[in-house]
Amino acid sequence: MTGTHELNAAEPLTVAEAAALLRAGRVCAFPTETVYGLGADATNPDAVLAIYETKGRPRFNPLIVHCANLGMARGIAEFSPLALKLARFWPGPLTLVLPLKAGAGLSDIVTAGLDTVGIRVPDHPLALELIATVGRPLAAPSANPSGKLSPTTAEQVRKGFAGRVPVLDGGPCRAGVESTILAVTGDEAVQLRAGALARATIAQAIGRPVAVAAHDAKVAAPGMLASHYAPNARLRLNADRPEAGEAYLAFGPTAHAAAANLSPSGDLHEAARHLFSVLHALDATGVHRIAVAPIPMIGLGEAINDRLKRAAAPR
Ligand code: TXA
Ligand code: MG
Repeated sequence: MTGTHELNAAEPLTVAEAAALLRAGRVCAFPTETVYGLGADATNPDAVLAIYETKGRPRFNPLIVHCANLGMARGIAEFSPLALKLARFWPGPLTLVLPLKAGAGLSDIVTAGLDTVGIRVPDHPLALELIATVGRPLAAPSANPSGKLSPTTAEQVRKGFAGRVPVLDGGPCRAGVESTILAVTGDEAVQLRAGALARATIAQAIGRPVAVAAHDAKVAAPGMLASHYAPNARLRLNADRPEAGEAYLAFGPTAHAAAANLSPSGDLHEAARHLFSVLHALDATGVHRIAVAPIPMIGLGEAINDRLKRAAAPR
């Protein structure tokens, strides 16, 4: 299988080694500011296939293409004036779905045959150095087995794939939830996925509100399955207090005995950063049921509630 390699996956990789693997058509996990990505050369169809194989992803959802800078991104997609304005958030946790440029050289599997492509420039020095060293855009979904929690540390990636995937270790991810995804068509922008960049922040930068795509919208993120980001434990959301047999995941000051607190001070950035790690850690204790405190729907609360809803969905 092209997705595995002969190096000892327990040994830390250097950027040069990671780049060599990627140039040779292998997959390699790398850090971003949001979550760890399972990367492959976006121009190499076999390498991109190895992502699906490694993740056990049941179908071909389009993948986000990670670029070193705006120049690399402009070689792949058509940028409208609005898209260029939004690209000022790069490097950063914003993915733009834009018209694919003719002759971009991307593997069809990356875009799942669509005529659009999801692109971002990640805000992480190791990711930027890696992409620049490879010299090609990297396709990368989150570095977790399909349907499992997204990883925010190298250790979670190693555990998730039982050491079969080489990982470039950049420490814990700063944002902790995936990028915000916007589809940009001409001078229209619609949010396909809430993420680490708050919708209100984007709206402020472009001087108008950003609509959220309807669930049945034609332009949807095909990967947005109802059940996703799933821990093994069952989740009960908006719980003001735990019931018998539940571990309580608190947010802000709480009078109840909590197994963990996403942010004791009620800071949504901190809660986003800790979300997946805390769920990983609670899961590892073997609890069967987790009651989660209400999270306000403002700022990053939109992304946190979205991930919690998916984690709690029946499966
Ligand atoms: O923060 C992130 O975005 C992380 C890091 C690694 O960059 N990546 C990530 O990738 O979350 P993934 O594969 O888990 O999610 C990609 C989402 C999917 O829901 C997919 O359907 C959507 O992006 N997407 C990608 N290209 C698209 C396109 N052309 N049109 C619509 N949706 C697209
Ligand atoms: Mg994912």
